[in-house]
Amino acid sequence: MPEDVIARTVTTPSERSEGELTTTPAVQARPEPRGSHEVVFEAEHLDFHYGKFKALQDVNIQILRHEITALIGPSGCGKSTFLRCLNRMNDLIPGTRVDGKLSFHGQDLNASDVDPVDVRRRIGMVFQKPNPFPKSIRENLTFGLKVNGQKADDDKVEEVLRKAVLWDEVKDKLKQDAFALSGGQQQRLCIARAIAVEPEVILMDEPCSALDPISTLAIEDLMQDLVS
Ligand SMILES: Nc1ncnc2c1ncn2[C@@H]1O[C@H](COP(=O)(O)OP(=O)(O)O)[C@@H](O)[C@H]1O
Ligand SMILES: [Mg+2]
Repeated sequence: MPEDVIARTVTTPSERSEGELTTTPAVQARPEPRGSHEVVFEAEHLDFHYGKFKALQDVNIQILRHEITALIGPSGCGKSTFLRCLNRMNDLIPGTRVDGKLSFHGQDLNASDVDPVDVRRRIGMVFQKPNPFPKSIRENLTFGLKVNGQKADDDKVEEVLRKAVLWDEVKDKLKQDAFALSGGQQQRLCIARAIAVEPEVILMDEPCSALDPISTLAIEDLMQDLVS
């Protein structure tokens, strides 16, 4: 591999045999950091275990500010696992272990003095399967804002729903239960909820897999807006 590229490597299940793990580039290499873009995340020799099962081996990657970074690889290669390492969501799964180094703005993300709840507030996540709160559409958006002590007024609700291309479909039923929405609408609500609290980073795990092509394009445009 040329020296001017950063390898993003994850282990694919097909390569696991008799406890010996090899690592192949499952994600395209990309150019070195451009301009002054600062490094937000850096993984160095990152391994991850679910019990005895090694799901990530020797992941080395830099993720830069104001960029959209996409992880591409076959199902089961560890994309979701890696994403969950970035905001300590894997902590919630018993029996897991992280080895190697993972830093956020140069600070060890797994250090004992780092509060995982604070990490998750700063690093938001949208999951592949929509997971709205069992509350009204409006409360799904205002809940996190209130918890963070941020302003949670009607303007903010409209602003984030417009960004997530959901406003026109829900503006007359903000008090209805979020579960009454379709799967694609629930996912756009979860995206609106994630951006409402203005996290520094948004991790999206295949967020558009339940969306139609028009909503997908709109979400891609939103991602471009968020990084610009
Ligand atoms: N909670 C879990 N417990 C045990 N193994 C898991 C768990 N989640 C994922 N895995 C395993 O880790 C590997 C990577 O999974 P995942 O990160 O979900 O891959 P991807 O997102 O690339 O499809 C798979 O072999 C999967 O079965
Ligand atoms: Mg996944």
